[in-house]
This record gives sequence, structure tokens and C-alpha cells, in this order.
Amino acid sequence: MAILTVNHVYHTYFSQEVATEALHDIHFSVEPGEFVSILGASGCGKSTLLSIIAGLLEPTAGDVIIKNHDQSTSIGYMLQQDYLFPWKTIEENVTLGLKLLKYHDLHAKDIAKELLQAVGLPNIEKKFPRQLSGGMRQRAALARTLAVDPKILLLDEPFSALDYKAKLKLEDLVCAMLKSYEKTAILVTHDIGEAIAMSDRIILMSAKPGAIHKIFDVPRELAALTPFEARTHPSYGAFFQSVWKELESLEHSTSS
Ligand SMILES: Nc1ncnc2c1ncn2[C@@H]1O[C@H](COP(=O)(O)OP(=O)(O)OP(=O)(O)O)[C@@H](O)[C@H]1O
Ligand SMILES: [Mg+2]
Repeated sequence: MAILTVNHVYHTYFSQEVATEALHDIHFSVEPGEFVSILGASGCGKSTLLSIIAGLLEPTAGDVIIKNHDQSTSIGYMLQQDYLFPWKTIEENVTLGLKLLKYHDLHAKDIAKELLQAVGLPNIEKKFPRQLSGGMRQRAALARTLAVDPKILLLDEPFSALDYKAKLKLEDLVCAMLKSYEKTAILVTHDIGEAIAMSDRIILMSAKPGAIHKIFDVPRELAALTPFEARTHPSYGAFFQSVWKELESLEHSTSS
């Protein structure tokens, strides 16, 4: 049974002069443990959709249903920029959510230590974000997101500010962590390769207004691999082409 259902969601932004329809009848479900990517051109409404799923934005119509949970406790959010607080140490950043949940200080520190170890950042608890590279900061942000044990992770282009090598490594790390902690994830990206390498399913959105154009099931033999392995698998190229063609057809239909 689905852990999350986006139930016929519409969203329109209103300003004094204009109304912008950002989302039009978005409807899909996500199964527990599934990794779903939302792929689409800039401005097609991906971040709007994630904000609605996170409960940060009220949709104009429709709703989001999360099985057995409410939005505030079961969802973790990871963004393009790490948003670590610069004046707090890495440990303080990672334990922040746990403190809000009234975890005992020592327990929170233990959780932070374990997670920082798991993301490959041992012994940096007392460092400040500015002392870390971009990739290390994103790994610390991943540890912070996982610390409060959310059931569902929302990832809004978390790799886009990184160099290619750091990005490929972080993709593998995120997939491995999500698998071992049995999380469900929704990733927003405009990178086809990333969507294919990481996901079980890809939701391709068209723009103006943002709508679901097509949903692809990633071939099983690719979905079973790590992202890095998937990129070098023989069937990666053909599947990339089929997604690419759909994206191209969308661009032509919206620019004409
Ligand atoms: N706060 C806002 N007020 C008015 N319009 C907005 C607001 N936020 C987004 N929009 C508009 O809604 C549409 C969808 O924006 P959104 O940020 O969700 O797109 P996106 O797919 O995440 O884009 P990108 O890939 O560039 O991050 C765009 O036309 C955008 O201009
Ligand atoms: Mg966005």
C-alpha cells in the first residue's frame, strides 16, 4: 500500500496583477521504500510540488495523504544548498532537529556521531561548516536530515552545486543510506542521468502549467544497481535515449 499519495493537487500563485498556475492535477502514489524522481525543465513546478508534499505550502486544490503519519514528523527535506547554520558546529547542526524533539543531549550526540561516521565524516563534530568542502557539507546535511528519522525524504536538487566526481559519489552514498535505513525518497532533478541512475520510477513533468507528462518505470536491471554501476550498464544508453526523446518533444511543444 502507498506510503504517500499526491491526490489531484493543483496550485496557483497569486500576485496583485497575475495568477500563475504552477501545478495542474498532479496525481501519483509512492510505495514504501521506493525512490521516485521528478524530472522537468526549470520553472515546471518541481519545488512547488515538493513544498506541498512537505506541508510547507497549502495546495490550491487537492491534498497529500501520508499513511499513518502527519507531514510534520514523517518528512525530511534536503535542498540544493546545505543550509547548515554557519555559526554552529557540525555536531550542533546535526543534532538540531533531535534537540527540538527533546532528545537527551548525549543520545543526540551518539546519533550524530553514528550518522557522520556513516556518511564518511568521522571526527569532524567540532568543525564549522566553512571548514568543510561543498561535498562534505552536503554529506553533513544528509546526516542532519536522517537524524530525526523521517520516513520520507524529499531531495530538491541536492547534488547540483557539486563537481561531477563529488556528485557521483554522493549519489551512491545517498542511495546506500536510504536503502540501509529503509527510507522512501522523492528526488527533484533536471538531470536525466541522475534520475535514471538513482530511481525506481521517473515522473516527467511538462511546464506551464506543471503537469505530469509521462511516468517511466526504470528497467529492473538498472534500478537494482548502485547509481554508479547503473550509469555503465549496457541498457542505460537506450533508456536514456527514450527519456531524452520525451523531454525534447516537450521542449518543442512548449517553445512553438
Ligand atoms: N512564490 C512564488 N510566487 C509566484 N510565483 C511563483 C512562486 N514560486 C514559484 N513561482 C512560479 O511557479 C512556477 C513553478 O516554480 P517552481 O519553483 O516550483 O519551479 P521548479 O520546477 O522548481 O524550477 P527550477 O528547476 O528552476 O528550480 C514558475 O513559473 C515560478 O515562476
Ligand atoms: Mg526548483
